[in-house]
Amino acid sequence: MFRRPLDFLNSLPAHGDLVEIRLGPVRAWMACHPQVTHQVLMDPHTFDKGGPLYDRLRALMGDGLVTCRQDTHRRQRRLLQPAFRAARVAEYARLTGVEARALCRTWRPGQRIDVTAAMMALTTRVTSQVLFSGSLDAERSATVRDSLEAVVRGLFVRTVVPFDAPFRLPTPANRRYREALARLHALVAGIVAERGRDGGPRDDLLATLLQAADGTDDDPAPLDEREIQDQLVTLLLTGVETTAMCLASAFALLADHPEAERALHREADAVLTGRRAPGHADLARLGHTRRVVTETLRVSPPGWLFTRVTTRETELAGQRLPRGTTVLYSPYLLHHDPASFPDPHAFRPERWLPERAAGVPGGAMLPFSAGNRKCVGDTLAMAEATVALAAVAAHWRLRHPPHRRPAPPRPAVTLGPRSLEMICEPRRPVPES
Ligand code: HEM
Repeated sequence: MFRRPLDFLNSLPAHGDLVEIRLGPVRAWMACHPQVTHQVLMDPHTFDKGGPLYDRLRALMGDGLVTCRQDTHRRQRRLLQPAFRAARVAEYARLTGVEARALCRTWRPGQRIDVTAAMMALTTRVTSQVLFSGSLDAERSATVRDSLEAVVRGLFVRTVVPFDAPFRLPTPANRRYREALARLHALVAGIVAERGRDGGPRDDLLATLLQAADGTDDDPAPLDEREIQDQLVTLLLTGVETTAMCLASAFALLADHPEAERALHREADAVLTGRRAPGHADLARLGHTRRVVTETLRVSPPGWLFTRVTTRETELAGQRLPRGTTVLYSPYLLHHDPASFPDPHAFRPERWLPERAAGVPGGAMLPFSAGNRKCVGDTLAMAEATVALAAVAAHWRLRHPPHRRPAPPRPAVTLGPRSLEMICEPRRPVPES
């Protein structure tokens, strides 16, 4: 699990629909069938957030929306949901188009760029707009990017190694992890304090949280400062890295699939005439671009492994599970099941043409999970990734350096290329086929 987690996951369905694995001394059960996973996700009171991943994440994010238990979830979700409504997503998509085009203009023909770092910078800017209407200057954005990198790397090891002792040692890796965490919290605390001082009216998530800190008619229980910080760190961690990983994986896959890449370029030329920045209104005409994003999320889902814990004795796939049992589910495992997706390792955006997508078994495609703990940012993430991909495609073709293959993605708490060097090649319009 630790050394070659993806191969390990792929090997499990051969052993049954629910397979017992060991994480050190801890016994855990992996859901290996869409219906078993569905049962887990649709019964969040029995299969609550918990287990090694969420126990570790709680130390990091406190009890924010991602990590909170079922008993406080409804209140938190109602609080944050308005920040992700359609009108807001449309505005964030417009902003993504503008930011992505600005990014493209800094690249030069033949330049080697780290695509992952560039996508992290882009999604940091968009997410910071969602959270604090752009209070992150270049220096703070770099702090977020660097700290997130150290934190997500350290988190995965802490998830699969269920002892605390090694992480208390004063090793350089442990120190980097702790310092990165402290930097993130300090940055968020600084922004909250600044807002308290300047106090001007804003339309962002921090404003919603500060309002809730005073208590509302619907929910008189006020939020304290710590809860506000937890929510912001939660959303930074979930919003920035996942979408950046999706975009970096998409560029890596496209460079190896010229047909899909040509179709992407053709669509960008047709929709974004004059290479204007794409926005929300273009999404309806960026069908192939969206299918590329969807297929990327299938082949390389940034959220690839999650844990739950049973709150009472229950039965799953014929197995009796006592209270406190760790159950895992993995979008990666489900997305690579040949029973759901023929030739599952092949990258084929056309799988998501409406007539074909209808044939995908229910619960087999879960990049954003399902049930009441489904990703609150799913619409935003899809809009952001589609618009960013189209904006880059209008200007550049990104290709792998000759004789250099990107390293296979190393799973951390998210899955995707942790660093991806590619070369910028200026685009010429693709003739109509
Ligand atoms: C491609 C990008 C993204 C992917 C693949 C993704 C995936 C997921 C998944 C699989 C879950 C469920 C975790 C579980 O079952 O334990 C989740 C939850 C969540 N995601 Fe995302 N996410 C993405 C982008 C975002 C963005 C942009 C935001 C916000 C800015 C966000 C915020 C959240 C939150 C707050 C939750 C917890 C929801 C709840 O429990 O009610 N995500 N995400």
